[in-house]
Amino acid sequence: MCGIVGYAGRRPATALLLDGLRRLEYRGYDSAGVALLEAGGLTCRKTVGRLDNLDKLLAGDPLAGRVGIGHTRWATHGEPSTVNSHPHLDGAGRIAVVHNGIIENYQELRAELEARGCVFQSQTDTEVVPHLIAAEWTAGRDFLAAVRAALVRCRGAYALGILNAAEPDVFYAARKGSPLIIGLGAEENFIASDVPAILKQVAEVVYLEEDQLARISADCIELFDLAGQAVPVQPQPLTLAAESADRAGFETFMLKEIHEQPRVLRSLLESHLDVPGGPRAFDRGDLDPAAWRALKQVTLVSCGTAYYAALYGRLLLERLTGLSVAVELGSEFRYAPGKVGPETLFLAVSQSGETADTLAGVRCARARGCRIAAICNVDGSTLVRESDAVLFTHAGPEIGVASTKAYTAQLMSLIFVALCAARARGELTADALAEWDRELRHVPDALHYVLNRGEAIAAIAAKHYEGPSSLYLGRRFNYPTALEGALKNKEISYQHAEGYAAGEMKHGPIALINEYVPVVCLCTRTEDEVYEKMISNVREVEARHGRIIAVVSEGDHQLDDVAEDVIPVPALREELSPLVNVVALQLLAYYAARARGNDIDKPRNLAKSVTVE
Ligand code: F6R
Repeated sequence: MCGIVGYAGRRPATALLLDGLRRLEYRGYDSAGVALLEAGGLTCRKTVGRLDNLDKLLAGDPLAGRVGIGHTRWATHGEPSTVNSHPHLDGAGRIAVVHNGIIENYQELRAELEARGCVFQSQTDTEVVPHLIAAEWTAGRDFLAAVRAALVRCRGAYALGILNAAEPDVFYAARKGSPLIIGLGAEENFIASDVPAILKQVAEVVYLEEDQLARISADCIELFDLAGQAVPVQPQPLTLAAESADRAGFETFMLKEIHEQPRVLRSLLESHLDVPGGPRAFDRGDLDPAAWRALKQVTLVSCGTAYYAALYGRLLLERLTGLSVAVELGSEFRYAPGKVGPETLFLAVSQSGETADTLAGVRCARARGCRIAAICNVDGSTLVRESDAVLFTHAGPEIGVASTKAYTAQLMSLIFVALCAARARGELTADALAEWDRELRHVPDALHYVLNRGEAIAAIAAKHYEGPSSLYLGRRFNYPTALEGALKNKEISYQHAEGYAAGEMKHGPIALINEYVPVVCLCTRTEDEVYEKMISNVREVEARHGRIIAVVSEGDHQLDDVAEDVIPVPALREELSPLVNVVALQLLAYYAARARGNDIDKPRNLAKSVTVE
């Protein structure tokens, strides 16, 4: 989704704005622009395509100034074009606005403003904002009051950066529904949609709250609510290490993040198992045993990859705790909330903590009296601030658009939740818990084993990446793995891919199988008949001449004569197998995308943090 940066300080702003925007590239964008305040007034440059285009434009036609705002746009209203890219100006060119979010009532506002003589340049929803501010300003209000009055009229979501030519030393920022942070430096201040943009520049941040407005200069930050009341500024230290936003020698962020998984899981294990009375579920607001026992239901809500993690969570919670568990897509739950209430633990799973649909689900559940818990990667995010209990996945910034380390960290986090719930509810003996503890500690090494097979997996991907379509099949705990593997493949390699519960194949997708279609089969050994059923499904694929890629438990040679390719992974108990299987599928998708020459960290059309509905 759109990226915003803003700067007021003593240094030339253009280079800092461009640097910040580059660090937000992972969010996905199709055009970019900046506006600066100079002695002569407000100037603006924008263009379609990558930031390199903007860089070239600015090299040929530079902008001076020490106060400015910048934007990368991910088109929602109006095609990607120079005229639709941000910043947008009012009719007199005195006010510039960059925006992330959607102004839902923009058509009504635009019609009203046009009737009053405003001429619009773009098809965007955003352009109503500078015109509205200008209208309120010329009505005689001071600028801050004009911004407040304009925002009160906007329905929907926004993070905004605003320049006013009449105030050459300051810029404004506002937030409702879309994230925005203020970074505090020495004699300079920034805004950004996300931490990586300013990680190298500042040591302290302020998270702008819902319906707050900021007036920012090099030396001063003032916060206000929408009624114009001053709000105290409470800076917090920025804890992420700057190097975590670099590629650390890997060819892409995604590959780096795939390789970070053993470390991420090891530190999660230590912080949840090696604590007095461990395992611990939530880092903040943990439930006591009585609260776990009082629960009647758990409802998980999430989107995309995090939804697949939640599907896994349901299986595990139901297996270990006997609780009734529902899984909801945020985008569906918000319009069809199932039965949830005070005895429901409503558990949101989100890497960013800013996904609009997940947040909408959370607010809906809150209104029904649920206790809200979150598994989240970003401290200070909206989800974290709106939750009663939080388990931080602590995976570090995930810059690659396709989620990898956040997913495995979510699976691991769900294991802690399930173990704690089961223990508190008397469903898990001390011996069984000790066995889990022992096996969990093997997982990081098991992931290393899969990562070490990267070259072999790359060779397999090189054989199959040109197929028209691919299928991913798994059962029970590896059904979500199949869904996630297929999602990874389509996101970055653009090969059509479908994940299926293997038993469903014969109900339709089997029609797709022929000698050109790779079929990735997750054939983890289980202690019951599920393994044999999976092998039968593989035979069905063989009979249709599908090109079988089997992911098997190490030492299992049953499919050697059937599969075109076999990827052995360490044999773990079935509930833990998705952690290793998915790493093999991440690598498979990665190398298929690389063979296709795709831009892996910035796949087309995708945005990292989906802050609009
Ligand atoms: C896929 C991916 C997305 C996200 C989804 C939810 O690789 O990253 O499907 O999982 O947009 O995002 P979060 O977890 O930030 O709520």
